[in-house]
Amino acid sequence: MTTQRLHITGLNKAFTLHAQGGIHLPVLDTLNLSIDDGECVVIEGPSGQGKSTLLKLIHANYRATSGAIALRRSNDEWIDVVQASEPELLDIRQNDIGYVSQFLRVIPRISALDVVAEPLLDMWQPNHGDKSAREQALSAARDEAKLWLAKLRIPESLWSLPPATFSGGEQQRINIARSLIRPRPLMLLDEPTASLDKANAETVVELILALRSTGCAVLGIFHDTEVRERVATRKVSISQLRSAV
Ligand SMILES: Nc1ncnc2c1ncn2[C@@H]1O[C@H](COP(=O)(O)OP(=O)(O)O)[C@@H](O)[C@H]1O
Ligand SMILES: [Mg+2]
Repeated sequence: MTTQRLHITGLNKAFTLHAQGGIHLPVLDTLNLSIDDGECVVIEGPSGQGKSTLLKLIHANYRATSGAIALRRSNDEWIDVVQASEPELLDIRQNDIGYVSQFLRVIPRISALDVVAEPLLDMWQPNHGDKSAREQALSAARDEAKLWLAKLRIPESLWSLPPATFSGGEQQRINIARSLIRPRPLMLLDEPTASLDKANAETVVELILALRSTGCAVLGIFHDTEVRERVATRKVSISQLRSAV
């Protein structure tokens, strides 16, 4: 039996460019898309067609102009992301949707190790419990983060440094580790292998296949044709998504 995870209907997004005299820029028009658990849907299409915008709308970094983004939450209740309140969105990003953005948002002074460990600590609500319980949780999260940094071939000499000065590919791998350390039922991946060498791209492909096999629903954009062929259970072009029920 297949379980639907995401059901998008009639999604529209236009940007209003206030700095350019209020120019109206339509990007997505009447887009429909459904994704089941265990699927890896790859969005194809030329640059500038709204692929990244679609992922940002689902993660609600951007708010839709109109339409519905129905998401089955971890507790099996459905919610429309377009209508969700800010507290609901924080909860959705915590528990229901994981997102690997194209660029790492670097937090000054936080080490690579803690950037990767942090999503596990959200889950354990570090403000609860006594000091020793919190220290134990932190140490367990750091141990897990070390495994991910090693898996993604980040040299140990970098683990204690903030990623601000890392190379593009190193930052991308930190970003991937930070998201995949705590997979959510729906994972959004925006060109996760774009600046990676072959060995690391292969590792990321294997991690995506593992996500799929555990029943996660994956929606991704991949620059590399070979990567696309390996991970996709279904490919859709962004232009075809418009009005394709
Ligand atoms: N925050 C924004 N403000 C204004 N225009 C934007 C914004 N984000 C994206 N766009 C525009 O939306 C279009 C689609 O962009 P994007 O979704 O990044 O395309 P893709 O990922 O397919 O290359 C582009 O024309 C881009 O300039
Ligand atoms: Mg893009």
